[in-house]
Amino acid sequence: MPQFDFLVIGSGIAGLSYAAKLARHFEARNEPVSIGIITKVQADETNTKYAQGGIAAVWAESDSFEKHIDDTMDAGDGINKRQIVEIVVKEAPERIQELIDYGTRFDKVPEGDYDLAKEGGHSDHRILHFKDITGAEIERALLDEIKSHPSIQLFTHYYAVELITQHHLGETVYRYREDIQCYGAYVLNRETSGVEKFLAKSTLLATGGIGNIYQSTTNPTIATGDGIAMAYRAKGICDNMEFVQFHPTSLHQPGKKPSFLISEAVRGFGGILKHADGSTFMEYYDDRLSLAPRDIVARAIDSEMKKNGVEHVYLDVRHLDYTKFLEHFPNITEYCLNIGIDVRKDMIPVVPAQHYLCGGIKVDEWGETNIKHLHAAGECACTGLHGANRLASNSLLEAVVFGHRAYLSALESFSTAQVPDHIPEWDDSGTTHPEENVLVTEMTRELNSIMSNYVGIVRTYRRMKRAYDRLQLLHEEHEQLYRESKVSVPICELRNMITVSYLVLKMAMARRENVGLHYNLDNLRQSTLA
Ligand code: FAD
Ligand code: SIN
Repeated sequence: MPQFDFLVIGSGIAGLSYAAKLARHFEARNEPVSIGIITKVQADETNTKYAQGGIAAVWAESDSFEKHIDDTMDAGDGINKRQIVEIVVKEAPERIQELIDYGTRFDKVPEGDYDLAKEGGHSDHRILHFKDITGAEIERALLDEIKSHPSIQLFTHYYAVELITQHHLGETVYRYREDIQCYGAYVLNRETSGVEKFLAKSTLLATGGIGNIYQSTTNPTIATGDGIAMAYRAKGICDNMEFVQFHPTSLHQPGKKPSFLISEAVRGFGGILKHADGSTFMEYYDDRLSLAPRDIVARAIDSEMKKNGVEHVYLDVRHLDYTKFLEHFPNITEYCLNIGIDVRKDMIPVVPAQHYLCGGIKVDEWGETNIKHLHAAGECACTGLHGANRLASNSLLEAVVFGHRAYLSALESFSTAQVPDHIPEWDDSGTTHPEENVLVTEMTRELNSIMSNYVGIVRTYRRMKRAYDRLQLLHEEHEQLYRESKVSVPICELRNMITVSYLVLKMAMARRENVGLHYNLDNLRQSTLA
């Protein structure tokens, strides 16, 4: 039974940057510390690894904190927490410098300054990037850093099933009880199939997003909302779950999961959205044309596709300098070429796909949840930074700023945590290995269809009610399967996806006004009538 001072669930930018800070802190003082990081597959299989465009920060002389703050608030439709926006924007340069100090490379111009890109909703060039594989570069540098610290143990192919709280000591835990405390997690060792107790004085959830509740998503298969669902079951408070971001330009490749992303930076570089006949359409939706914030562009594309009865629109980069394009976007260019799209001659077929969750586990400005000794950072957390819609390249930034803040907060409080010594072993008596995995596959397909058809870019109350009724049935069926089965990753992931889908739906049904990513045609009708 491993026991740590600090347990980190997730090995993306949020989890790794937090762990690196802790290790450096204790090692610099020659003080002993034990830090465990668990991750459900290999260490680098994270949303972080797939990030393309880059990380936003005020770096250019022409830019200012005020401009980045305004752009973030504007993209978020004004319901962002301004105090959090200010914190993140102002701390950005320092946190990014730390990534550079860990060995992250960002592209530079020949004069030696960083090559700052521009993306939708940004009023200045402020995106630091490494070609079009920024996330892979950050993940590489952070993993190198982590491996250099003897105080960190990295457990790959370990799957967190449940957070441990007083509930597991037989006490009644209800949502607004103020002394709920986290003692670590029950974790499935995928090699032995046994569930182990990973006890800790302080736990960080850094489990990323929820993309796989939808049919098409840019997220890798790890993004199943595990951390959010675990926190919710432990009576953690979740917020803003209705704000699901659809990226306007994923490559149109029917049936391909995850969808390959055509970075927003391609539009920042001059790519233009068009129809097959070469006509443009963004001028009917927003003055910023192809570079309007994501919610606006995704809705515009959705509307054009429905109006014209087509499955996708196009992104045209044929007019751009190919040598420079290739230099900036080698990964995208090569991917397209491999499937027969030569960006010099062909327009790129694109379609919106689920990309990011703006909501999640509610945390304060220090990454603290309502559960004691439980922090959350990165995409699974809801800090209030994004409001109703995230500004491009603010996600990696939020993760690294809140990785830092959670580290400071956990450092201050962990030594007062008492982990009881009578926490029971995982009890799976009376359960068996399910014989029919097809049930899980089919239920997942059903869930994807419900969420994509009824809780997507454009919503109505009727569609959401339909989704709710079907989700309810799915939930009942799955709970029975879960109760009877030995835990397995597919069963747990589906359980978590049903839970987070329910949270998305519940909050979407409760929101009465259209704001940012939440767009309900019935609200529109009401406000038109008013
Ligand atoms: P992740 O990087 O997703 O890491 C989650 C970790 O949690 C993984 O290690 C996973 O294995 C682990 N985990 C999950 N559940 C469990 C469990 N039950 N047990 C054990 N481990 C678990 N943002 C930007 O700012 N700029 C960009 O250019 C950008 N481009 C993007 C491009 C793509 C294609 C995608 C998908 C996203 C992009 N984003 C971008 C968003 C950004 O990459 C993510 O929001 C961010 O990387 C999330 O980091 P994280 O540390 O919170 O989670
Ligand atoms: C992209 O490169 O378009 C993704 C950027 C982001 O999600 O912030």
